[in-house]
Amino acid sequence: MEQLIQQIENYKQEIDNIPMNGAAALEEYRIKFLGTKGIVKNLFGEMKNVEPAKKKEFGQVLNEFKQFAEAKYESWQSTIDSSSTATGSKAGIDLSLPGDPLPLGSQHPITLVRNQIVHIFGRLGFSVAEGPEIEDDWHNFTALNLDENHPARDMQDTFYIHQKPDWLLRTHTSNVQVREMEKGKLPIRIICPGRVYRNETISARAHCFFHQVEGLYIDDQVSFADLKQTLYFFVQEMFGNDVKIRFRPSYFPFTEPSAEMDISCLICHGSGCNVCKHTGWVEILGSGMVHPKLLENCHIDSNKYTGFAFGMGIERITMLKYQINDLRLFSENDVRFLKQFTSAV
Ligand code: DAH
Repeated sequence: MEQLIQQIENYKQEIDNIPMNGAAALEEYRIKFLGTKGIVKNLFGEMKNVEPAKKKEFGQVLNEFKQFAEAKYESWQSTIDSSSTATGSKAGIDLSLPGDPLPLGSQHPITLVRNQIVHIFGRLGFSVAEGPEIEDDWHNFTALNLDENHPARDMQDTFYIHQKPDWLLRTHTSNVQVREMEKGKLPIRIICPGRVYRNETISARAHCFFHQVEGLYIDDQVSFADLKQTLYFFVQEMFGNDVKIRFRPSYFPFTEPSAEMDISCLICHGSGCNVCKHTGWVEILGSGMVHPKLLENCHIDSNKYTGFAFGMGIERITMLKYQINDLRLFSENDVRFLKQFTSAV
């Protein structure tokens, strides 16, 4: 047994003298001393040869040696781990270098502008309301004073659901007006962004789907002056303080009187260019005072309440704001186009 204890002492010294320099050497050490056929295991095997009276003493020495060998292994392992994190030597890369930038992407210009519109009207107390894109005839047309054979339906041909002839893809966000009025909770001050559909040939100026924002304000004593001032505020916030507006009389079945609103051309500032077709003005939305028939259709007392409404195409606002000349760019998913909006807010 003296011999065994001496041997253990020698092993300890051997371990103390090992220059630990890397993961491979550590693994070699583990196999030699701590492995299933390693020195520690072998020494435990010697136990049976030790005379019974000395077994206890030998057991203690052996256990201490085992702990010593294991502790060494752990401390070496942790130094190797931390040095490999610093240098990346294990993986063969330098982890102290700055990381590769991740391409973050950007918001779609339509999303950017929709959020801006919602935000501007939000400051005037308008909250967002939404409605279905698959709509029935009543909410998209009839309740809006566009009866079945009304000629104005011609301008809004759409896609019908074959199995359900009464269902269609909504042609405008005005359906949300009807749905909100039907709820019967007044006053109403809402802004309704959403996707709309029309059976149009796709070109630089028209598409079979696009986006609109509808606005509706109903209360007692809402006047055309409120409409004008609200839209003037919107335009100034959206395009800047220099922009002028003008209203042109127009016709929509759901408003009376109706008006289209133009803004002074942002490109030529009135002197005439292609964008404004040399008029100095560009049309941006339709609007008017809610037709009393609509109020009655939705069981609102038209003697007590009045309201204004407006609707605009988000694509149109975006094209003017960012000087985009082709509507198709919005849905083609060309990253060369989309990434130009990375820093737009
Ligand atoms: N719904 C109309 C369209 O798609 C836009 C519109 C015009 C909405 C006048 C309105 C409005 O609410 O008052 O062409």
